[in-house]
Amino acid sequence: MQLRDHAIYLALTTLIITSCSLNRNQPEDNALREKHRPQFHFSPAKNWMNDPNGMVFYNGEYHLSYQYYPDGNVWGPMHWGHAVTKDLIRWEHLPIALYPDSLGYIFSGSAVVDWQNTTGFGSLDSPALVAIFTYHDPEQEKAGSIDYQTQGIAYSLDNGRTWIKYNKNPVLHNPGIKDFRDPKVFWYEPTGSWIMILAVLDHVQLFRSPDLKQWEKLSEFGVDQGSHGGVWECPDLFPLTVNGTEKWVMLVSLNNGAPNGGSGTQYFIGTFDGITFVNKNPAEKILWIDYGKDNYAGVTWSDVPKEVGRKLFIGWMSNWNYANVVPTTVWRSAMTLPRELKLIETPAGTRLISEPVPELKTLREEKSIREAQTLEGSLDLSSAITSNSQYDLFIAFDPDTNQGFTLELSNAVNEQLLITYNTETNSIQVDRTKAGRHDFSTDFGGVHVVPREIKDPVSTVRLIVDQSSIELFADDGLTVMTELMFPTELFTQLKLHTQENKSLSIEKIEITSLKRIW
Ligand code: FRU
Repeated sequence: MQLRDHAIYLALTTLIITSCSLNRNQPEDNALREKHRPQFHFSPAKNWMNDPNGMVFYNGEYHLSYQYYPDGNVWGPMHWGHAVTKDLIRWEHLPIALYPDSLGYIFSGSAVVDWQNTTGFGSLDSPALVAIFTYHDPEQEKAGSIDYQTQGIAYSLDNGRTWIKYNKNPVLHNPGIKDFRDPKVFWYEPTGSWIMILAVLDHVQLFRSPDLKQWEKLSEFGVDQGSHGGVWECPDLFPLTVNGTEKWVMLVSLNNGAPNGGSGTQYFIGTFDGITFVNKNPAEKILWIDYGKDNYAGVTWSDVPKEVGRKLFIGWMSNWNYANVVPTTVWRSAMTLPRELKLIETPAGTRLISEPVPELKTLREEKSIREAQTLEGSLDLSSAITSNSQYDLFIAFDPDTNQGFTLELSNAVNEQLLITYNTETNSIQVDRTKAGRHDFSTDFGGVHVVPREIKDPVSTVRLIVDQSSIELFADDGLTVMTELMFPTELFTQLKLHTQENKSLSIEKIEITSLKRIW
């Protein structure tokens, strides 16, 4: 499409949308029940979604914008779709927050509350929400130039319900680098300035600003650090305290290069002095936030009140290797459950752990408990799975005697997803080769492995099952796997098997079915 046609198209769509007050992403009654539609994970009512964007907490609401193509079920000209939640579980779909304009599509970015009115967009009494995002100019890209990604800002004075683009965008020009995107911004108290972390090809760059409008480059990190299996994207940088010591955590998504193929998110732990981030692990040490195939581009919420003290994360539950072809109609893609990130000290060093937010408990329905027992062979837990096949499973093992196990999720048509803890390799694996549809991509079926970082046997496992995903948290959130699945019928059966000729000492099993949110 020529730039002029594009502008006319945009003007027309904006006009139609404004005049009808039509919310194209608002679900109709009884919608959101399609086959494979997650029933307690966020998904857009219709059409394509990728990365989470603009995550900010303000006035009792957690905002979640997302990469959105409102006119189709595959990636296309990017907008920011928008939703809010008060409890991180139940979502309200809102109208599209940001539309493409003459500077380009709206790629990933973040949002902050401008409490001190550094931008002048709001006031001290009524601060503006400010979104900082990447403009991706498709016309310049087609014309063969490489400086088509710049950073822009927009603000909202009405709780994020409408957004006004800054009239002097872009605020950060492109220095002649093809991949220059995904700004994540935070307020750095010691210097009283905004810091932006930006993904730049094979590294990140840090910038500083007094007002979110003028940006000065501070430093670079990463060319010779961590994994470089693909281009770096969607970074984040934040402090967390462990045993009374503050450490800085940097998240960097990369595509390709994930441990089980395709898209994944690595992290670094180090120091930040307002200018430079220093990795405190050896440069070649690679740490992954999640070893499953389906947790990408995740970042954390801004402005969660300090007294709440939680670092809240959400990721896009897919993988660029097949995201555009997964077998869903009407919509495509969901987010992970919101998770709290924490640091812990382990014998292997400081590590990031993930836990689903406790608000998930508000969806709890029937609970089935099996008390301590020693198992040899198989334990059929299917009677605890209610007809919706949505549940939260928790198992505590006697860690001294755990000799491995397999959890089998299955249905009446012999499809099965297998989760196996292998003590010999000290790893957990998810086998989705027979877990239903995988004909849409040669990369989807397969066995995906997470190596454990601690030597003690697994003592706890938590598995959260929705219509088309599992989220596995072992070792209290140190060993994590998020995986999609597309069984042709629901997995209404669940069995726990011991390894051949071995027994398993179980302290407790709890299976709680979960209500739907829509
Ligand atoms: C990551 C990403 C970002 C980019 C966006 C485009 O999945 O490639 O780097 O901003 O998606 O939709």
